[in-house]
Amino acid sequence: MGASSAIARTRSLYERVRKVVSPVEWALMAADVEAILELKRARNAVILAHNYQAPAIFHCVADLVGDSLALAREARSVEADTIVLAGVHFMAETAKLLNPDKRVLIPDTRAGCSLAESITPEDVRLIRARYPGVPVVTYVNTSAAVKAESDICCTSGNARAVVESLGVERVVMLPDEYLARNIAAETDVDIIAWTGHCEVHELFTAADVAELRASYPGLVVLAHPECSPEVVAAADYSGSTAGIARYVEAQRPGRVVLLTECSMSDNIAALNPGIDFVRPCNLCPHMKRITLPKIRRALETMQHEVTIDPAVAEGARRAVERMLEVR
Ligand code: 13P
Ligand code: SF4
Repeated sequence: MGASSAIARTRSLYERVRKVVSPVEWALMAADVEAILELKRARNAVILAHNYQAPAIFHCVADLVGDSLALAREARSVEADTIVLAGVHFMAETAKLLNPDKRVLIPDTRAGCSLAESITPEDVRLIRARYPGVPVVTYVNTSAAVKAESDICCTSGNARAVVESLGVERVVMLPDEYLARNIAAETDVDIIAWTGHCEVHELFTAADVAELRASYPGLVVLAHPECSPEVVAAADYSGSTAGIARYVEAQRPGRVVLLTECSMSDNIAALNPGIDFVRPCNLCPHMKRITLPKIRRALETMQHEVTIDPAVAEGARRAVERMLEVR
C-alpha cells in the first residue's frame, strides 16, 4: 500500500481534522490511521482516548473519547476483547480494574502523570494514622495501589459530588492540592489536602490570565481545576475537560482560551468552526508519548498489557466503583 493511496483512501477521515492538521502532517499519518482501523477489526479491539490526545487519534481512530470520568464509565460497557487506552497509565489501570477479564493495552508504559507520582500507598497509610476516622477521597490520577488505600475515588468532573456524598464534615482529598483547594471553595465540607501538583496546569498563573485578557478583548477564560485557586478565581468557568468542552459547545464564545493541555483546544476547534481559540500551549509530555505509530504497534504486537497486582486490585476496584455510584 503506497502512502499516496492511503491518503486517498482516508480522505473522508482527514476532513474531520483538516482545520488542525496540515496536509503534509496527514501524509505522514494516513498509513498508520488506515492500519489501526484494520487492526482494530482484526483484533476485536476498541480505542478509548482522553480529551488530551492529538487530533488524529481523538477524531480518526478512537471509538470512545472523553474526560477521565467518561472513560471510566464507558470502560464498563465495552464488549470488545481488547481495550487500547490512548491516555496515561492510571487511565489504563482504571479500565483494567473495571474490566478484569479483558486485555487492556497501553501503547507506551512510560505515559505517567506527575500527580500519580506524587503519592505512595505508604503516604496514605500515614495520613490515615494522622487523621483517624476521616474518609480518604483519592483523585483517579493515582496508582491502583494508592486507590486501594482509599475509601472512594473522584475525578475533576465529580469531586464535589463525591465529597458531599459521604455526609461527613471533614475529608482528606489526595493528591492534588489545587483540586482540593478549588473544591474546598465550593463546599462546606472541610478538606485536608496533599501537596501534589499537575506539572502542566501549575504553569498557568493569574498574571497570565490578566495578560491574556489585556491582549485579547472579549476573551472567555476556561480553567481546569488542577490550576491554582488564583487562576480558577480569575477564570470565567472551571470544570473537567468534558465540562470545558460542554461549555464551549453550549455558550459558543466568540473568543476563548482553555487553561489546560493544549491538544484539547485543537480537538474542540476541529468541531467548532467560527470560534477563535487563543492557544498558549502547555503540552502534557506523558499524554504525548501516545502516538499513532505506537498505537499501531500495540495492536500489531498486543503490547503492553496492563496488569494489576491482585493484592491491590480488589480494594482499588471498590474505590472506583463506589465513585461511579455517585450521581
Ligand atoms: P479530566 O478528568 O478533566 O479529563 O482530567 C484528567 C487530567 O489528567 C487532567 O490533567
Ligand atoms: Fe497528569 Fe497533568 Fe498530564 Fe493530566 S495533564 S495526565 S494531571 S501530568
